[in-house]
Amino acid sequence: MKLLVNVDHVATLRNARSEGFPDPVEAAVICEANGAAGIVFHLREDRRHIKDEDAWRLSEHVKGLLDFEMGATEEMIGICCKMKPHLCTLVPEKREEITTEGGLNMPLIMDDYRTRVLPKLKEAGIPVSLFVEPEPDDIKRCAELGVPVVELHTGTYANASESRKPAELKRLRLAAETAHEHGIKVNAGHGLNFENIRAFIDEVPYLEEISIGHALMADALMRGLPVSVREMSEILENATAKAT
Ligand code: PXP
Repeated sequence: MKLLVNVDHVATLRNARSEGFPDPVEAAVICEANGAAGIVFHLREDRRHIKDEDAWRLSEHVKGLLDFEMGATEEMIGICCKMKPHLCTLVPEKREEITTEGGLNMPLIMDDYRTRVLPKLKEAGIPVSLFVEPEPDDIKRCAELGVPVVELHTGTYANASESRKPAELKRLRLAAETAHEHGIKVNAGHGLNFENIRAFIDEVPYLEEISIGHALMADALMRGLPVSVREMSEILENATAKAT
């Protein structure tokens, strides 16, 4: 099982000020140097976090797997076909949402994906993953479309109460089994963290790539803060000592 780190939040922090840091590409390099098998980024239509330049720089500097997450607009398909990442993960994208809220509405998108979206990505030689709810019927629709990979939406599991979690894990397990039966590779992501990851990987079979962003960035911030504050405090304390 491989960890792919989503670096969108690094860009969100960078964009809060226009100072060029923190750099999502530098974060990606650190993630890869510390065991991540690859990097995920979501180039949104409104460019609210990752910008085009970040995406191209990531494609240059990421040494492992690069997963380009995107909505299936003509613009994104064009960029992805030029970039040729290892994987293109197609997600539903609404401007007003804070983050991706759930899997693709499979019955609704089938025709469009079959005729417009998938042929272009296939022609460019890019493997496609569909971000889906862990529902066997949706997985079967992915098989009908001939996609090689699905990413199971783990957000409902992650947000479920402790009493509801076993039922959500069962749903995920069934979905993973269905995908496997159809020869579809199983990735997963959304809302996974240090508390809920173990039960998930224990219960759900055939998992290959796990995409995690928010929890890792939040953890890195809190675990890194002591080092940063200590170093700055020392600089100031030493300056005070010299001045007196
Ligand atoms: N997978 C998909 C399709 C996503 O949209 C996201 C969020 O950008 C993730 C995985 C990672 O979710 P999180 O940031 O909650 O770890």
